Amino acid sequence: MADKPKTPKSPANPSESQQSPTHLTNRQGHPITNNQSQRTVGSRGPATLENYQFLEKITHFDRERIPERVVHARGFVCYGELEATGKIGDEPASKYTRAKLFSQAGKKTPLAIRFSTVIGGRDSSEVARDPRGFAVKFYTEDGNWDLVGNNLAVFFIRDAIKFPDVIHSLKPDPVTFRQEPNRIFDFMSQTPESMHMLTHLFSPRGIPASYRHMEGFGVNTYKMVNAEGNTVLVKYHFHPRCGVASLTAEEAAKVQGQDLGSASKDLYEAIERGEYPQWDMYVQIMEDHDHPELDWDPLDDTKIWTEKDFPLRHVGVMTLNRNVEDHFNENEQIAMGTGVLVDGLDFSDDKMLVGRTFSYSDTQRHRVGTNYLQLPVN
Ligand code: HEM
Repeated sequence: MADKPKTPKSPANPSESQQSPTHLTNRQGHPITNNQSQRTVGSRGPATLENYQFLEKITHFDRERIPERVVHARGFVCYGELEATGKIGDEPASKYTRAKLFSQAGKKTPLAIRFSTVIGGRDSSEVARDPRGFAVKFYTEDGNWDLVGNNLAVFFIRDAIKFPDVIHSLKPDPVTFRQEPNRIFDFMSQTPESMHMLTHLFSPRGIPASYRHMEGFGVNTYKMVNAEGNTVLVKYHFHPRCGVASLTAEEAAKVQGQDLGSASKDLYEAIERGEYPQWDMYVQIMEDHDHPELDWDPLDDTKIWTEKDFPLRHVGVMTLNRNVEDHFNENEQIAMGTGVLVDGLDFSDDKMLVGRTFSYSDTQRHRVGTNYLQLPVN
């Protein structure tokens, strides 16, 4: 098994610089001899309230969870790196972007990735017929770049104001608290642009066999900017080197009958074995101007760009090689968003992106808290 590379950790995290104590302490580092008994006045009580250790333990427990994500609540994080080719297809990357992470052959950028399901809660099945999140946080020398994508190339809607409606149609009914087909039909039947993604979702690819065996797509249209300030439109793709594999509904029923967390387990164990999953990363490029020759809008995320006309151009290889040490800190509190871009990469005028960019940091200030950007993983 190869050495596990290091991804950045905050030097401000005191737990990394201190030796693990050999005795039990409270969170202030004070030794405690007993954390199993309340202090009482006499052997039968009453209990005292000046017992700091008791207060600390209970008050932390009372607050230990944060709200689960409104979507993509169940997910799994690991770390790795992107090794750039220095090129975009056959051309130097600098022709299209000044973003440093793509600039040189062999340049390695550390990253965290969070795979997820979309609709189920924090402990729900990982073999649901549901899109999968494919969200990458690149720790570049110019700051973080988040590419918050999915395993399906298109999305249900093209207007951000519909997002609460599409999600509510798929989430549990407010009365029965079950996913109700009528609610899904009600929304989708009145939203014809959802048919493309629905077709993928109900195709044989609708239930990925694991997080290692699926593609990733940025879905929305972004831009690249070169040193001269010239821009192109761009779509991002990831292809798994171990191939795409899916489950039938019958196979999925058997898997979830045994284990709701099968995809997290598969990924965690593969990395622990040293079997590091890899994806080839590609972009599609289009000139950044009006395209009257196309009978579809390149900024519409319910459409794909045909690979025949806009070929995939290789830009690098992503390898995942390290598991988290603390699920809560590194998974529950990781915060990704489409507004997190670096020099040389930009938004397009795709109107979904504006809605998404507002929504991610807004929910994270609520879900994780005002100081979420001070957490080492972010
Ligand atoms: C306007 C449409 C959209 C809105 C308003 C929206 C909003 C959100 C929100 C509020 C979250 C929870 C974030 C958190 O709690 O940290 C989220 C998560 C996520 N969204 Fe979206 N979303 C939209 C469209 C999309 C699309 C088109 C994709 C795929 C390209 C996508 C992929 C994801 C992923 C992968 C996550 C999970 C991120 C993680 O693992 O932490 N979303 N979205």
